[in-house]
Amino acid sequence: MALDRQELQARPVGVFDSGVGGLTVAREIMRQIPNEKIVYFGDTARVPYGSKSRDTVVRYSRQIVRFLQTKQVKAIVIACNTASAFALDVLEQETDLPLIGVIRPGARVAADTTRNGEIGVIGTEGTIGSGIYPDFIHRINKTIRVTGKACPLFTSLVEEGLLEDPVTDEIASRYLSELIDIGIDTLILGCTHYPLIRSTIGRIMGEGVTLVNPAYETAVELKRLLEKQDLLCPKPPALGENRYRFYVSDSADKFKRFANSIIKYGILTAKTVPIEEY
Ligand code: DGL
Repeated sequence: MALDRQELQARPVGVFDSGVGGLTVAREIMRQIPNEKIVYFGDTARVPYGSKSRDTVVRYSRQIVRFLQTKQVKAIVIACNTASAFALDVLEQETDLPLIGVIRPGARVAADTTRNGEIGVIGTEGTIGSGIYPDFIHRINKTIRVTGKACPLFTSLVEEGLLEDPVTDEIASRYLSELIDIGIDTLILGCTHYPLIRSTIGRIMGEGVTLVNPAYETAVELKRLLEKQDLLCPKPPALGENRYRFYVSDSADKFKRFANSIIKYGILTAKTVPIEEY
């Protein structure tokens, strides 16, 4: 019996996103719970999710969960706001695995952070249109005003690696001007791609605005969940064991180059998976 528990604890955590954005969450998990192994899936052939319908995003997410289950994961982190907004509830009904999304943790931190009661949230059209951030924040505090702004071009700019670029600056200035006019003091980066252009967003919003990156709190929540279910891995993986494995639905080489530029662990393997078959 004891051995079963150890085997279970040694299993990896599954993390997925439409592309490279979820790496910002994976990076945080690596920092905060370094004993955990990770199987990451980035749906690079079908990115962006943000402009797709709920049904499509649910179908994609379901396929990815099935794929991750073949890798014997012990829990799954939906490291994508759009998939969390559209698919978390449905997937919770369909699987026994512990699942967490990125929205609840981010909403909680933002509600704790604001001083003037004006929160902005930027995300994909899907996430902003779903109204899920205002919903969660109002469950905590009804008096907070939440203004959402969809920034659909940000995902492509990040996927193309234009992290520091005049084009990104120009587009960000246009998207963010209305939030500056409102006088928000807290801005949720409500898409896991956005922390990768955090410095541009921070510069445009100015020092008076606190940027909330839900990745940090998501890793905290994952740790709490694993502890509660006695699934936390007590010791580091054996020497030489490949603790982080990456899978994508499009070119593995392009992904590997990008991932290596933002994760400092040396990503050796990334494989392409025919995700439509799952
Ligand atoms: N990174 C994802 C999110 O957090 C999705 C971006 C997209 O695919 O449009 O919403």
